[in-house]
Amino acid sequence: MPWFGLGVWRVENGKEAVNAVKAALKNGYRSIDTAAVYQNEEGVGQGIRESGVPRENIFVTSKVWNSDQGYESTLEAFDASLKRLGLDYLDLYLIHWPVKGKYKDTWRALEKLYKDGRVRAIGVSNFHVHHLEDLLQDAEIKPMVNQVEFHPRLTQLELRTYCKEHGIQFEAWSPLMQGGLLDNGVISEIGEKYNKTAAQVILRWDIQSGVVTIPKSIKEHRIIENSDIFNFELTYEEMEKIDALNEDKRVGADPDNFNF
Ligand SMILES: NC(=O)c1ccc[n+]([C@@H]2O[C@H](COP(=O)([O-])OP(=O)(O)OC[C@H]3O[C@@H](n4cnc5c(N)ncnc54)[C@H](OP(=O)(O)O)[C@@H]3O)[C@@H](O)[C@H]2O)c1
Repeated sequence: MPWFGLGVWRVENGKEAVNAVKAALKNGYRSIDTAAVYQNEEGVGQGIRESGVPRENIFVTSKVWNSDQGYESTLEAFDASLKRLGLDYLDLYLIHWPVKGKYKDTWRALEKLYKDGRVRAIGVSNFHVHHLEDLLQDAEIKPMVNQVEFHPRLTQLELRTYCKEHGIQFEAWSPLMQGGLLDNGVISEIGEKYNKTAAQVILRWDIQSGVVTIPKSIKEHRIIENSDIFNFELTYEEMEKIDALNEDKRVGADPDNFNF
């Protein structure tokens, strides 16, 4: 799975999604993260087709939405996502949130899709350690990815350690804290040393932390900026300084307490 990709939450279906995906693929991105609930899978699919990049070179992720969870309904939701995307397989399919009483049946459906060769990897999103432990009790196949909120204000050390020990790749959503960290003094100061922006420093910190990252932007100059992070390296001390910004602060819902 690529370490780096484009997120498309809150990207409008149609032109906006098509253009963002095309801009990303033109500038070297090879991974796109969407979800049924983002309602832009058609635009993402169109962007992929118009990009001219061969399908097999692109890593496409989508997610089953909460109201579709359960065994049969997940199989149906997967088909509907593929149809909207205009694809015949997905690279990664995730359970979007751990819906109580349902996520184990949903997982069985993902296992079937995987065994049938319709998706190349399966995983979860917004799972705490206790959700993973519960799922692993009955799972035949271990989740390969856990995509959760992660940025310098929410470093998720316990969950990251658990995922590492269990061979589950940790992936960050809202890596830029939705833009909320870009004027942080510590991060900007580190950026000055390398002639990099705060966004680039944060995304580099993700990669060096072993975390897959998928920043969202619809602006081509930012799409380019965000991916220009493979030509510098943060020192151990700089990594620690960013780690120390943790406040266990979320901008999204807590997976133990969501009502959607
Ligand atoms: N699994 C889940 O439950 C879940 C939840 C949330 C998100 N996600 C995924 O994670 C992706 C990323 O998270 P996110 O969209 O919430 O937030 P994000 O990537 O942390 O931040 C995106 C925001 O920052 C702005 N931005 C991007 N690059 C910038 C730059 N270089 N300089 C200044 N501003 C910049 C964007 O504006 P412009 O577009 O105007 O540039 C947008 O407002 C989502 O798109 C989605 O694919 C998953």
